[in-house]
Amino acid sequence: MGSVEAIRTYDLAKYYGNVKALDGIDLDIREGEIFTILGPNGAGKTTFLLLLATVLKPTRGTAVIKGLDIRRDSARVREIIGMSFQEPQLYWRSNALETLKFHASMYGIRGSERDRRIRYVLNRLQLERISRRRLLNLSGGQAKRIEVAKILVQRPPIAFFDEPTAMVDLDGKHIIWEEIKRLRDEGSTVLVATNEIYEAEVLSDRVAIFDRGKLVVVGGVGELKEKIPSGELVEIRFSGTYSNALEEEIRSQFRPTHIVSDKGYIAIRIPGAKKKVAEVVRYLIDRGLSIESVSIREPTLDDVFLYYTKRRISE
Ligand SMILES: Nc1ncnc2c1ncn2[C@@H]1O[C@H](COP(=O)(O)OP(=O)(O)O)[C@@H](O)[C@H]1O
Ligand SMILES: [Mg+2]
Repeated sequence: MGSVEAIRTYDLAKYYGNVKALDGIDLDIREGEIFTILGPNGAGKTTFLLLLATVLKPTRGTAVIKGLDIRRDSARVREIIGMSFQEPQLYWRSNALETLKFHASMYGIRGSERDRRIRYVLNRLQLERISRRRLLNLSGGQAKRIEVAKILVQRPPIAFFDEPTAMVDLDGKHIIWEEIKRLRDEGSTVLVATNEIYEAEVLSDRVAIFDRGKLVVVGGVGELKEKIPSGELVEIRFSGTYSNALEEEIRSQFRPTHIVSDKGYIAIRIPGAKKKVAEVVRYLIDRGLSIESVSIREPTLDDVFLYYTKRRISE
């Protein structure tokens, strides 16, 4: 991953009447990274991508993509980007093969190179069997895979994917994630919008959390998790006598942000738990408990979202 800037937005905003779909976003996206926009429905993710793709015009602010201003140089911006839409933009009387051929030729990809790319993508996304079937007879997940396939065939320098695996089965999701990473590895800069926490965790080099048209926080996945003070969740199973007095001792000794216990089980949340877990275990052994298992669960990006917004993404 380089650190050269591929996209920078300046106070980018879009209002629909008095709905502030996007309310002044300043972000930079680096050359060759997978940058994810994570947020609940209505956060402004699609609006952000549509502005960068020059489908919508900003109400305020602008963005520069590889030196091109989305307001002034929109035609040239469109030449270097590819956009996989949230709602598949397909010609429903056509089929997958024709759709991909047409899409490729629009971007000057022809002949054996075009055929090679299409064959590869149809095969990878398990679309071969249905490649000549009318699109209007396909399922939502199949249509979605064709929408994604267009950009995987195009291989643009800047690729946008809006909820690339919505409605796709788990197997298909993994394949799409692999192919999006391959696109990045071959040099494209990739921007993904998603409301799926796991998708953002799997894909992101960096992630920006959006909520209600605003940027909440941006950074690497690990970095964002480390920044929240709630810490990792340590779960310990044991046999032996666990008393209220012992729990009070643990509280004063380790200052957990959260502690629950049941018979033979305690769960504690401690900032920096990875470094402290051995000490906690030793402490319990010294007080006569026999430890059966210990696990540490990292916070998820949903915990990060919760910390900043006081809500869960899925709410
Ligand atoms: N064409 C439109 N007219 C009016 N409001 C819109 C329009 N498109 C989006 N919105 C509103 O803008 C906000 C952001 O929408 P969107 O960008 O689609 O969010 P997301 O992709 O994160 O779900 C939502 O409140 C949505 O209802
Ligand atoms: Mg959306």
